[in-house]
Amino acid sequence: MKLISSDIETYCIEHSTRPSQLAGALQKQTMDSVHGSQMLIGEMEASVLSFLIKIGRVKTILELGTYTGYSALIMAEQLPEDGKVITVDINPHTTKIAQDYWDKSPHGKKITLILKPGLEALNTLDEKFDLVFIDADKNNYLNYLKWSLEHLSDHGMIIVDNTLWSGKILEAGLDKQTDSIRAHNDFAAALDGYTKTLLPIRDGMFLITRT
Ligand SMILES: C[S@@+](CC[C@H](N)C(=O)[O-])C[C@H]1O[C@@H](n2cnc3c(N)ncnc32)[C@H](O)[C@@H]1O
Repeated sequence: MKLISSDIETYCIEHSTRPSQLAGALQKQTMDSVHGSQMLIGEMEASVLSFLIKIGRVKTILELGTYTGYSALIMAEQLPEDGKVITVDINPHTTKIAQDYWDKSPHGKKITLILKPGLEALNTLDEKFDLVFIDADKNNYLNYLKWSLEHLSDHGMIIVDNTLWSGKILEAGLDKQTDSIRAHNDFAAALDGYTKTLLPIRDGMFLITRT
């Protein structure tokens, strides 16, 4: 299920700040030749992420789910010179494409890839982040959220992608991934001391920050 019509989404994109030419080329190459390109966050979500990074005074980002590096690149483009993105994925092939593009960008030096399963990677990290962007394996969403709550800077925010799961989120018992995202969303909604909003943008963006 598409949550908003393609025409409306295109109109919104055309009236928003666009990503760099390099990010556009990476998106195009991914859509033209990489399996699973529907996993890209896309331009609409990219513009929302970029806006939040700007107004949130974000300097340090952890991303779970790199894929071909599009979201990492558009986030790095918004960071100050001393900002950083750590991004985690298990796929050496898609992350090779990512690294090739980051190497061509003046912002690429801000990005570090950890090529490990998400939970294993988190065990190696013991710092606080201004933004954690969760966009990897859905069955671990709740584990990723719990870790992120413990590793959020004072003004930090967590953004969790695909939290409406093409509308399947409304149905319990459909499959393991849907139930995992439902469990994550219910846990997030019940958090005390946090302000949350679940936005029907793209495939659902769940925003969480301390109250
Ligand atoms: C939705 S894609 C990420 C898209 C990316 N954020 C973008 O928009 O450019 C999800 C990624 O999670 C990765 N992934 C799947 N299971 C994982 C795991 N256990 N640990 C880390 N990454 C995983 C996949 O290899 C895939 O590249």
